[in-house]
Amino acid sequence: TKRQRPVIAIDGPAGAGKSTLAAHLARRFGFLNLETGAMYRALALKAIENDFAFDEEAPLLELASHTRIALEPQMEGNRVLLDGMDVSRRIREQDVTSAASQISIHHNLRAWMVLQQRALGQQGGVVMEGRDIGTAVFPDAEVKIFLDAAPEVRGNRRYRQTIPAPSPELSEIPADSGRQVPPPQSAEEQRAAEEAILRDLKERDYRDRHRAESPLQPAADAVILDSTAMTLEEVLARAEEIVRAHLPAD
Ligand code: DC
Repeated sequence: TKRQRPVIAIDGPAGAGKSTLAAHLARRFGFLNLETGAMYRALALKAIENDFAFDEEAPLLELASHTRIALEPQMEGNRVLLDGMDVSRRIREQDVTSAASQISIHHNLRAWMVLQQRALGQQGGVVMEGRDIGTAVFPDAEVKIFLDAAPEVRGNRRYRQTIPAPSPELSEIPADSGRQVPPPQSAEEQRAAEEAILRDLKERDYRDRHRAESPLQPAADAVILDSTAMTLEEVLARAEEIVRAHLPAD
């Protein structure tokens, strides 16, 4: 069956910039942006909340069988509903991040995820982002991009995302707003925080790349984009070229 509109698969390790790229491409071409990692995160959160072990597949699969996970594409990323509850923020926290990587090693659990992801994307007109989209979910995707970058660069980008955006002048914040101004970190504390992030990222990378089931690796026909020495603008421009080259000319 031929899709009318393409599937664009974006795979790669944590912190490579997949989400930013996927959101940009979706906006540019008018496609839906689907973050499959959010589905693993949502189930991981449910496992945490219900005290499930991450290394036992059968109970997790049973849990999954009465779980509803919905992705609602927005301009920036996905709103994620777990059994109807908005968990978009909660699933980005460190405990869920680690649990998601741990539960994602299980074969049948992955099969459950992949079936849902195929259903979400089968009409085409989607940018689907994850680890195994080009290899397992849509091996016939019209466009496959594998976005990579050196671990240090990815760790540093993740660290900078944790630094709060420049806050408005203190005088502009009403005294009763309840707004917390974070205490400044010393250079020492900053270095320690960045190193901790790099450590977590390398651990997750290792697990994602070495698991037996759908390990993170580029599809044979993926275009590999290494963003280590590229600016965000360069990555977006290059990816746009790749997509355009695969779309029917209009
Ligand atoms: O992309 P992310 O960081 O939100 O993904 C969280 C975890 O989920 C990641 O460590 C591995 C797993 N994952 C996966 O195995 N397959 C996918 N398609 C997406 C995510």
